[in-house]
Amino acid sequence: TVLILDFGGQYNQLIARRIRECSVYCEVHPYTLPLEKIKEINPIGIVFTGGPNSVYLDESLKCDPKLFELGIPVLGICYGIQLMAHLLGGQVKTPNTREYGKTHTQFDTRCLLFRDLPSEGITWMSHTDYISTLPEGFTSTAHTAACPTAAMEDPARKLYGLQFHPEVLHTENGIQMLHNFLYLVCGAKGDWTMGDYAKSAIASIREKVGDGKVLLALSGGVDSSVAAALLAKAVGSQLTCIFVDHGLMRKNEGDEVEAAFANSGINFVRVNAGDRFLAKLAGVSDPESKRKIIGEEFIRVFEDEAKKIGRVDYLVQGTIYPDVIESGVGDAAVIKSHHNVGGLPDYVDFKEIIEPLRLLFKDEVRALGLELGLADYLVWRQPFPGPGLAIRIIGEITREKISILQDADFIFREEIAKAGLDRDIHQYFAVLTSMRSVGVMGDGRTYDYTLALRGVTTTDFMTADWARIPYDVLERVSNRIVNEVGGINRIVYDVTSKPPATIEWE
Ligand code: XMP
Repeated sequence: TVLILDFGGQYNQLIARRIRECSVYCEVHPYTLPLEKIKEINPIGIVFTGGPNSVYLDESLKCDPKLFELGIPVLGICYGIQLMAHLLGGQVKTPNTREYGKTHTQFDTRCLLFRDLPSEGITWMSHTDYISTLPEGFTSTAHTAACPTAAMEDPARKLYGLQFHPEVLHTENGIQMLHNFLYLVCGAKGDWTMGDYAKSAIASIREKVGDGKVLLALSGGVDSSVAAALLAKAVGSQLTCIFVDHGLMRKNEGDEVEAAFANSGINFVRVNAGDRFLAKLAGVSDPESKRKIIGEEFIRVFEDEAKKIGRVDYLVQGTIYPDVIESGVGDAAVIKSHHNVGGLPDYVDFKEIIEPLRLLFKDEVRALGLELGLADYLVWRQPFPGPGLAIRIIGEITREKISILQDADFIFREEIAKAGLDRDIHQYFAVLTSMRSVGVMGDGRTYDYTLALRGVTTTDFMTADWARIPYDVLERVSNRIVNEVGGINRIVYDVTSKPPATIEWE
């Protein structure tokens, strides 16, 4: 185990994730973890995270200085290095200028952390204070123009510090530096796998749930599917998954979700509520109204089913770490009222929420899904909005339009996969516009819908670039759709980025 002591910095879980990437098990604990507990855990190394304060203030967060006498290697990052310096007799000062962002840095490659790495490079800095006097026994092993101690070490005591953030990708070779700490300083074996994660997650869910009843709202998206697979393994028949099929899923998707879970030893309830949703949506063409209607109807349907089960003890949510961060972001303007099928239902009577994926990043969730034996098509599913195809049909929704869009979208996805682009383009789908135009088929005039194709590349879905899909792929998609799907006689490709456009059209 590597122990991460959390001093409240913004990248704490990212450090954990990087350590897992190095195949090393780690746990994040608050900085207040008592020395006795630390001894009990007996970690091979301890990492101090960043934090928001100046170390020399009375109220700033501190750990027990006896921690440095345990003989356990310690790596202090950002606030962590300053805390280490401060507690061991060095001096930390606040200069007039702060260092922020990509910073040119020079390294002493004799330091184990920088072994076999270039002697200079870019690091990601985010600090106001700096170490002005090193504590006894330490030497500075990196510097920048503004910061004489961008890194320090006392190899005899196995104490190391980095002023910059090795866990952030902007730091060149940062992950290698963490790797060096884990392997060269702590002697990590690197035998931790996602399989181990699954095992310990299953064990702790079992312990928590006991013989309680568990309820999960399954959307068919990656997160809720992986959460369901994990819970199924952990508590099997005590788990009920309610899958509300609103009839606005992509082609075959409802059946795929059912196939994945119906025989997994859990209580799987698929509610085919397409008619209910369509009835509510009849005649509605305003995007926000559609979203609201679907969100509300979803709650009603779920509620009706949940009532049949009665009281449950635990409600599972597929929250993942990026959701945790994003939900902290205050009161931004409402661009679209997002509806997440996993949203917190206050209408179900339960004791506690379980969020088994809360600390994982998306790619880790996928790896866990594969580990649990979930089908590839579920694990690699692209994001799909809660309101489904309702917001990809511009204007009023009819059964006929849903079916046209499902067929066209299916062809698009199939051709993208055939071209081997399905992992490079992060989200791609078809949109049925409400516009009709004149065309010619055979010898006859047509007056049919225009279909738009959308494909984007993005890292976080907050901004996105339109995907440069090769012309020949677009050509195949276009030919197939107009030939195989009735009701469409014109195809356009969306070449706007986000911003100014959004990814979805409504
Ligand atoms: P926009 O269209 O806002 O979409 O650029 C950003 C990402 O969010 C997805 N999206 C949703 N996801 N419920 C969801 O769970 C929703 O209501 C919703 N609306 C949009 C969208 O597909 C894209 O990935």
